[in-house]
Amino acid sequence: MQFNIPLNQWTKNKSLITWIEEQIALCQPDQVHLCDGSLKEYDYLMQGMVESGMAIALNEKKRPHSHLFWSDPDDTARVEESTFICSRKKEDAGPTNNWEDPEKMKKKLQELFSGCMKGRTLYVIPFSMGPIGSEIAHIGVQITDSPYVVCNMRIMTRMGKKVLDALQNETFIPCMHSVGVPLQKGEKDKKWPCNTENRYIVHFPEERSIYSYGSGYGGNALLGKKCFALRIASAMARDEMWLAEHMLIMGITNPEGKKKYFAAAFPSACGKTNLAMLTPTLPGWKVECVGDDIAWMKFSKDGKLHAINPEFGFFGVAPGTSYKTNPNAMKSIEKNSIFTNVALTEDQDVWWEGMTEEAPEKLTDWHGNPWTKESDVKAAHPNSRFTAPITQCPIVDPALEDPAGVPISAIIFGGRRSSVVPLVSQSMNWEHGVFYGASVSSEMTAAAKGEIGKLRHDPFAMLPFCGYNMGDYFDHWLQIGKKTEAKNLPKIFYVNWFNKDEEGNFIWPGFGDNIRVLKWMFERCEGLEHAIESPIGYVPTNDAIDITDLGLSQDDMQELLSVDIASWKKEAKDLEKYFEMFEDHFPKGLQEQLENLKERLNK
Ligand code: OXD
Ligand code: MN
Repeated sequence: MQFNIPLNQWTKNKSLITWIEEQIALCQPDQVHLCDGSLKEYDYLMQGMVESGMAIALNEKKRPHSHLFWSDPDDTARVEESTFICSRKKEDAGPTNNWEDPEKMKKKLQELFSGCMKGRTLYVIPFSMGPIGSEIAHIGVQITDSPYVVCNMRIMTRMGKKVLDALQNETFIPCMHSVGVPLQKGEKDKKWPCNTENRYIVHFPEERSIYSYGSGYGGNALLGKKCFALRIASAMARDEMWLAEHMLIMGITNPEGKKKYFAAAFPSACGKTNLAMLTPTLPGWKVECVGDDIAWMKFSKDGKLHAINPEFGFFGVAPGTSYKTNPNAMKSIEKNSIFTNVALTEDQDVWWEGMTEEAPEKLTDWHGNPWTKESDVKAAHPNSRFTAPITQCPIVDPALEDPAGVPISAIIFGGRRSSVVPLVSQSMNWEHGVFYGASVSSEMTAAAKGEIGKLRHDPFAMLPFCGYNMGDYFDHWLQIGKKTEAKNLPKIFYVNWFNKDEEGNFIWPGFGDNIRVLKWMFERCEGLEHAIESPIGYVPTNDAIDITDLGLSQDDMQELLSVDIASWKKEAKDLEKYFEMFEDHFPKGLQEQLENLKERLNK
């Protein structure tokens, strides 16, 4: 077996050495590459992929040091139907996860991984989720046979030698990944190897390990992200009294220079990345970005929840991203970026639907076919992605690397609802806020599988990402609220940017104007009144939201902020029905919240 560096020179961590040796014996690769995380290594791997035809080097003048990949057309998204939580008891995976018996699944995985890397190189990637050395951070080690994964992990996480130095003899989360396509001697590799017949994204929350087989796509293959930082970390957080959440983290500074940090959870297609990098339209207000997808929050000595972004890059949806909708994202991807399944322009740059008002005359679409404006297919896949270093974001928060994390003043939940849910409301207390989180639902868009406009419940925006019984997860949130004084807990809000008028037009302008709603929350955190009590929580008084220069009438605001009792009675009924699935795992504290809501609506 050929190694790029002897294993015992690369690390002295005995359990890591043993684990790597076992996996080599199982997967039988031709070579082993122990990653150091250097730029030289990244360039070497990228060059190899350009030469093999897997990657396209983009125009160095237009988009320096950036590359484009086109995946297998059947490997373009997370595969929830092939994602498993293998706890010993089925009940511990809960009604929202696929479950399989751990022993049975281990056997299956042994079969799948046996010899799966023949003809390939096995890469070992040490990575830290969070600033290296932070008490909130954790270390993982991923084994993969995909150089695409190695390069993406170098952008998405802190990875390489510095992580090994920090790891010493500590424990780590083992993450096994293979595209599942062993090569015979002399067999030519596919452009995007994957095994769509045998896809398994498997989590063992009790032993804290991850196995992913058959897919090269981001959410299935970059195991630090959804698999570790959400599914496994949520189970760790339950055991250790912290929170691993599908949330952005943003810093907001008011014109007087006072700064607060907010975290926010939204289901997909609700503009989370846009909110994380918002350009405020109110003079004097500033937004800075700590993260756009995941937050880990732990109590610190001051009794407050402090958050870190476990990631180090953005893995964002490209379509719809433009200098108009999200200039900070566009600037983040000007160089040193990886693009997956977007279109290629004639001058070797990238394009996707919504990037410019007019599409270029000619493109090569994500299937590699010629494309013109007359084509009736999309040039970029709706789930095409950019991978970019967070440090390239013009408004990256200075506390990104602060090992202590940032203190969270407010937690925001939201979904896409064309009616019923007002622009913003504030929970009466922590338990009521947990009820907000449990009630998150969103109307489906064309971007996801399912009936357009149909409501999908997505509690805490964690439906595909909670690594244990969601009912127990609700209870964990209630327990967190008991761990500190009420004054130290973040305030909890629920927003809905997507109310529509009778003609079907959005009433609220959204994007940079969302700062106006954030301003109200900021002021509420400061203890200002500006709110009235409604059956669903505090809502802003009619003039509390600054609508200067917005062209919205008082009637519009009335429409945006009103709480329609009849619709909410229906909403409460629907929630009650939804919560039934959690059976006796549904916490009493939330049952009480539901009863209280019904009572307030009946007053
Ligand atoms: C993501 C997702 O990719 O939530 O962030 O699916
Ligand atoms: Mn996400």
